[in-house]
Amino acid sequence: MNKQLCVLASLSFTFNFIVSAQSLSGVFAKKYPIGAAVNSFMLKDSSIDSLFRLHFSSLTPDNEMKPEVTEPQEGTFHWKGADAIVAFAQKNHLKVRGHCLVWHQQTPEWFFLDKGKKASKKVLLQHMKEHIFAEVGRYKGKVYAWDVVNEAVSDNGKSIYRTESPWYQIAGKNYIAQAFRYAHQADPKAVLFYNDYNVFMPEKRMRVYFMLKELLKEGVPMQGIGIQGHWSLYRPTEKELRETLRLFASLGLKIQITEMDVSLYHWEKNERTMRTGEQIVWNDSIAKVQADRYAMFFHMFNEFPKVISGVTFWGVADNRTWLDHYPVEGRKNYPLLFDTLYREKPAFHAVIESQR
Ligand code: GLA
Repeated sequence: MNKQLCVLASLSFTFNFIVSAQSLSGVFAKKYPIGAAVNSFMLKDSSIDSLFRLHFSSLTPDNEMKPEVTEPQEGTFHWKGADAIVAFAQKNHLKVRGHCLVWHQQTPEWFFLDKGKKASKKVLLQHMKEHIFAEVGRYKGKVYAWDVVNEAVSDNGKSIYRTESPWYQIAGKNYIAQAFRYAHQADPKAVLFYNDYNVFMPEKRMRVYFMLKELLKEGVPMQGIGIQGHWSLYRPTEKELRETLRLFASLGLKIQITEMDVSLYHWEKNERTMRTGEQIVWNDSIAKVQADRYAMFFHMFNEFPKVISGVTFWGVADNRTWLDHYPVEGRKNYPLLFDTLYREKPAFHAVIESQR
């Protein structure tokens, strides 16, 4: 029995249902890695293990490489979760996308302090350098790509930058370029990404574009943009997505779709209370609408074969998704390719079909 058939047999046994003979990573093998976000606990689950062996060629730790986990106190490192994920990837010949080194969230306060007082720019950048050297250095040669800076651009307002971020408040925009330089020094072969959400929205898109253009002009070692694919049944539209991919491709950057999930609900970040009561019933017709959206997205990626260099889903199956908790706690969502019992959804088949 070849490897794929062995995995299929064990999957059918595990779930007691027939799975199709199609493999996502197989279909994308000649194009780009297909990945999913995981944590080290999920990887102990034999169903997840089987799905990874059949369908994915890459993974991303959802939280275990973030600063609050890896360096909760200055110089005290916790690598257990990240090490387990990297070991799983190596055992199963999966690529690892590291996520994320510099972010305004999930970063412990000590980064911004110096002996209990607000740190100077020099001290903050030193903290950043040591953190990046420790983490990128540890996984050198094992993590092929990093989200170096996450979400540094503002959604609206006068400034391009997220001015409320403590990184920005202490170091100004310079921390962004420095983060890339340190990551490049720590592992010159790693592919370095700027990663952000809602970049299909025209206003945010232009802010990100100007920032990236400036960084490239300064010679900052940055090779790609991670477009967080926290999308929905409504947006981005085909036009919005095409314009976005075209714009970033024009900078000569690689594009990876990171954090992909397709919510049943509108993007509600600033409208949470308005829609809290709304509850969409999951049924065949909504599953078909979602599948059509996935088909549109992947057909669009096909239009940019030299530019798209990876797609990562933010989770594996609908039984575990952050969208059950955000932006409305306890509201069930069904954003991924596999259902709550790890079965292939219409969206899964739409993605496979988009590659024929
Ligand atoms: C953002 C971050 C991710 C994750 C998701 C929500 O997109 O980049 O690390 O926290 O939000 O799960």
